[in-house]
Amino acid sequence: MFSIAAMPPMADIVLETERLILRQFGEGDAELHARYLNSPEIMKHIGGVRELHEIEAKQAKSMAGFAREGFGFMLLIEKSSGEPVGQAGMKRVDNPLAPNTGMHEIGWAIRPDRWRRGYAGEAVTAIIEWAFTRHDAPELVALTSLSNEASWRLMEKFGMARRQDLDFDDPAYEPDDSPVIQYSLTREQWENSQ
Ligand SMILES: CC(C)(COP(=O)(O)OP(=O)(O)OC[C@H]1O[C@@H](n2cnc3c(N)ncnc32)[C@H](O)[C@@H]1OP(=O)(O)O)[C@@H](O)C(=O)NCCC(=O)NCCS
Repeated sequence: MFSIAAMPPMADIVLETERLILRQFGEGDAELHARYLNSPEIMKHIGGVRELHEIEAKQAKSMAGFAREGFGFMLLIEKSSGEPVGQAGMKRVDNPLAPNTGMHEIGWAIRPDRWRRGYAGEAVTAIIEWAFTRHDAPELVALTSLSNEASWRLMEKFGMARRQDLDFDDPAYEPDDSPVIQYSLTREQWENSQ
């Protein structure tokens, strides 16, 4: 059983894994996000702690992505507690400094008190399958930095290959997190690994 506190109407549920519900963002989620997913620890390599209006803007962008193309980022709800434990999903590369804007990009963040429990892996497995089988993505990329070892190790665990040709500098990030580096996985590589 899980509490209905962080649950939306059924229509907003996109994916389900053994321990997680992945659902679209909805009303009131910016506050939930701010409470659980905006600490200096979780945001260290991804641009730092955000203002509430920035979280609202990101969530609105995700909802627009779902309305437009059927995908975006989602809130991860832990079934056992009903609480948000992360966010993950797929969007288009939208950093104007990136050399590959428009490609399908996957990403993730898990609440620090739930790290190393396999939650990111569980969500990413479902998201990669969803991307290739439901959204016809030819290739997925993921963006990180060399200092974010947990993240690029996760990419490598999922068979993603380092794409030095796609590296770019973004002054919005701390010097330790520049350049932005990328990994990719083609549908063919994924199918061959199944
Ligand atoms: C990256 C992150 C999402 C991993 O979440 P998680 O739920 O702890 O990851 P999992 O337990 O599913 O681990 C999956 C794999 O990721 C890698 N990994 C996760 N944490 C790691 C760490 N601290 N050090 C090295 N590798 C790590 C490992 O390959 C691991 O597989 P293994 O357990 O078989 O070794 C989490 O550390 C996080 O939210 N970081 C802050 C936000 C962020 O930087 N997001 C990435 C943006 S690009």
